[in-house]
Amino acid sequence: MQPTAPAGLDRKEADVYRQLDPERLPKHIAIIMDGNGRWARRRHLPRIAGHRAGVASVRSTVETASRIGIPALTLYAFSEENWKKRPKSEVDFLMGLLCRYLKTELPTLNKNNIRLAYIGRQHELPAVVQEKMRWAREATANNRGMVLTLALNYSARSEIVDAFRSMVEAAANNGGLEHLQIDEDTICRHLYTRQLPDPDLVIRTSGEMRLSNFLLWQLAYAEIYVTPTLWPEFRGVHLLEGIAQYQKRERRYGGLTGDAVQLHNYYHAKTVRSREV
Ligand code: FPP
Repeated sequence: MQPTAPAGLDRKEADVYRQLDPERLPKHIAIIMDGNGRWARRRHLPRIAGHRAGVASVRSTVETASRIGIPALTLYAFSEENWKKRPKSEVDFLMGLLCRYLKTELPTLNKNNIRLAYIGRQHELPAVVQEKMRWAREATANNRGMVLTLALNYSARSEIVDAFRSMVEAAANNGGLEHLQIDEDTICRHLYTRQLPDPDLVIRTSGEMRLSNFLLWQLAYAEIYVTPTLWPEFRGVHLLEGIAQYQKRERRYGGLTGDAVQLHNYYHAKTVRSREV
């Protein structure tokens, strides 16, 4: 029997949703939003017009993910490399766009019971941006629906460096370095994503086949879906198409099958629970 589409989906979205198995939706979807610049160039517009248009895609994707009950969505909004390599005027524009997004979307996030979180070296962002981020996080802190994580000034390698620093610091404050024991679970507990399950699905727009320093540890077993659609044209229906592709694939957990997969899932769920503080 086809599943009934949740309220709020448009006709195209509902058509794709009905092909999905609602029992096998990804728990966490991560998206590398790419192609804003190319979208603008094709229209003979400045790059910032692509970023501005990308906000409507963020809105549509977030709302659709929340409507169908995805527990966690993470968007790669601004990498550490973006910070260093893009002209200051573009970086300033992106910062302003983020602040406006947080201000204007807050009522919708609350209406949809979405909780905001961030990953990345926030302390290096401009003070006014940090203030707006704090404000929006606190204003959504009691929501219990989807967790929307924005990766801002994010680099996966920096995250791993920060995790190792944090492990050493915790050990030094807790009996000394001779007690430091490092295993996978310890590393997970010191990553920025310690309260999130690892993504099951990573989507990249604009046809590029790279991970670009995004969640390198956490994406170890994720399915990768690359779509040629440029980010400003991406909508909820494209997200559902990505999920449909994901459901067609046979999931492999580092070569595990059958009982071993169930065991993996059991320990994975346990690890996530133990990371929740
Ligand atoms: C990549 O496109 C996109 C970004 C670096 C920024 C993403 C930002 C947004 C989608 C806008 C707003 C986001 C939020 C969360 C409010 P690109 O410029 O690298 O495109 P190109 O590869 O075609 O040049």
